[in-house]
Amino acid sequence: MQEATFQIFRGDQQGGTPVEYRVPVAPGMVVLDALHYVQGHQAPDLAVRWNCKAGKCGSCSAEVNGRPRLTCKTRLDALPLDKPITISPLKTFPVIKDLVTDVSWNYKVNRKIPPFTPRPGVEWKFSQEDVDRVQEFRKCIECFLCQDVCHVLREHDKKEQFAGPRFFVRVAALEMHPLDGVSRAELLRDQLGIGLCNITKCCTEVCPEEIHITDNAIIPLKERVVDQFYDPLLWIVRKIRGAPVEPK
Ligand code: SF4
Ligand code: SF4
Ligand code: FES
Repeated sequence: MQEATFQIFRGDQQGGTPVEYRVPVAPGMVVLDALHYVQGHQAPDLAVRWNCKAGKCGSCSAEVNGRPRLTCKTRLDALPLDKPITISPLKTFPVIKDLVTDVSWNYKVNRKIPPFTPRPGVEWKFSQEDVDRVQEFRKCIECFLCQDVCHVLREHDKKEQFAGPRFFVRVAALEMHPLDGVSRAELLRDQLGIGLCNITKCCTEVCPEEIHITDNAIIPLKERVVDQFYDPLLWIVRKIRGAPVEPK
């Protein structure tokens, strides 16, 4: 039977090192199967987070050969098995143990975003076209692969100033909801740091749900911020009316 060699990170907050394991390869096997094999036969204390093994819970995220991936959706027959496969925890978040990282920062960011708030007296009716537009964003499984790959968080660690692509997807779902009555433009500009995104599209490339994060969420949100705060015509109209130049 063919064997694959894995270099799996073992360690915690204090540090760690890759450890080599050899795993027999069966047809249709995914990386998560290999991790379970290692747990079952060689390292019962290997820490791995997973739940569904179906690409739907978003918890098995790790870096396979340096690329952020869901381990339950990464088939071994799609990887070069003639050399060791490296499996590391998400680099952007602190390691708890082995492949398990602390992603709780994301939930703190989420709490800054006002939830869906219908306009007062709005008619509860909207077109299929509007449903389709926001449906894409609702596919997010919170795997945080996009957060992991984004250089603003990964290389520059700007967690205080920048929310990351996952939360631009969430804000887009709310802002583009036809019945929602809250503007999150100021939040996007001041607290979620959308201006730091330079549209490299790395987030879109790793999204397992194939959400067009950059084109369909981030760019329209950037346009909203520009329209609300930097449109010279709107600025003049507000000035003439005596309204605040920067709307609240
Ligand atoms: S497009 Fe923006 S949010 Fe996405 S990875 Fe690049 S900088 Fe980050
Ligand atoms: S937008 Fe895509 S990559 Fe980012 S958390 Fe959601 S499903 Fe994962
Ligand atoms: S185990 Fe649920 S997405 Fe991989």
